[in-house]
Amino acid sequence: MNILLLGSGGRESAFAWKMSQSEQCSKLFIAPGNGGTGAYGKNVNLNPNDFEAIKKFVLAENIELVVVGPEEPLVNGIHDFFIADEAIAKIPVIGPKKEGAILEGSKDFSKEFMARHGIPTPGSKSFTIETLAEGLAYLQHHSLPVVLKADGLAAGKGVLICETTADAQEELKLMLSGKFGNAGALVVIEEYLTGIELSVFVLTDGDNYVILPEAKDYKKIGQADTGLNTGGMGSVSPVPFADEKFLKEVEDTIIIPTINGLKKDGIDYTGFIFFGLFKVGDKPMIIEYNCRMGDPETESVLPRIENDLVELFMATAQKRLKDVQLKISAKSAATVMIVAGGYPGDYEKGKAITGIENLRKSVAFHAGTALEGGVVKSNGGRVLAVTSLQDTQFEALQSATADAARIYFDGKYFREDIGFDLM
Ligand code: AMP
Ligand code: GLY
Repeated sequence: MNILLLGSGGRESAFAWKMSQSEQCSKLFIAPGNGGTGAYGKNVNLNPNDFEAIKKFVLAENIELVVVGPEEPLVNGIHDFFIADEAIAKIPVIGPKKEGAILEGSKDFSKEFMARHGIPTPGSKSFTIETLAEGLAYLQHHSLPVVLKADGLAAGKGVLICETTADAQEELKLMLSGKFGNAGALVVIEEYLTGIELSVFVLTDGDNYVILPEAKDYKKIGQADTGLNTGGMGSVSPVPFADEKFLKEVEDTIIIPTINGLKKDGIDYTGFIFFGLFKVGDKPMIIEYNCRMGDPETESVLPRIENDLVELFMATAQKRLKDVQLKISAKSAATVMIVAGGYPGDYEKGKAITGIENLRKSVAFHAGTALEGGVVKSNGGRVLAVTSLQDTQFEALQSATADAARIYFDGKYFREDIGFDLM
């Protein structure tokens, strides 16, 4: 079968790596892909948000499955676009329609969804420019720190944690006056949780679901979780503090009510649901949904899945997930992200990368890279995700970290402590 994968990050490299191992995969296209995805298929210069161009390509190449990596095309309605057009309506799209993607596309919607279906989440209230005065008064009596979230997609930058009331009030005014553009026209003010974060994922066909391996992402740029937030500096799977009892509680109090809630609300959801969780004491709480897989979580999660990923996707599209038995490796995966110097602030691109061929016990999933005249060059902030799958978590962490040190480009940086805090 011919498959089109949309996206260009480390997540998509991991998807492409895994799908290309399937006997069912004849031709794999990645749009637009990156400097490494050409090893698993063919890169195509298409913008994932240009639905008309995607349609033309899908028809010309007899594509039989479309897998959407990032959230933006889903929130923009790529799945709805396919369904509405007779010529491509029968081609399965992995990723929810707009009505499901809104779980990520609107934090206000997702908070109301959680409240409506009794899903444990920190208390919150939403405000617009019309209700600014009420919002300022609400903050006056709010516990500290307090969390402010832009309702819409803000490229991972729309969450602010404010330590003082004055700071929170100032930020609320700025957000409602356009600090994050239209994404901040509605702001969710949320209670601050103290606990430890992890990510849980399901793949659902709308009726049934499979729970994928959980993962932990490391968001801060600096060692020991210091400094600015990034898209993610590394990940591990499994997560030692997420024992069987805890994960059962996640399923009972968060996953099942979410799947049932979608059904009750008449939302037919096909694709991944990413549950952004906190472990507070020994209880799970959810802080966000995403309508896609995580990055760099995918790079640690997929190597632990032993099933054929294309088969899993076809079972999802054909609502046959209840017949699927997920096979999860008992091994541990660790991912160390190599980033450009300066990231997540200003950074340079176009640095020649060497040493990828020297990795001993890891795979390098390309993220922000480009191939220029046969040379792999950096082309983004997060450049390469180095993943190692080993018998023990310690070995996986050591191998991924040691292999990340074998890659070189001018200004390169990576955290040497990913996952070691969990040992
Ligand atoms: P997000 O962009 O929604 O992933 O949020 C960014 C980060 O903000 C999360 O990874 C958390 O570390 C933090 N965060 C979000 N909501 C809360 C909350 N209610 N309490 C504490 N930290 C939070
Ligand atoms: N790693 C967090 C995310 O993908 O949103």
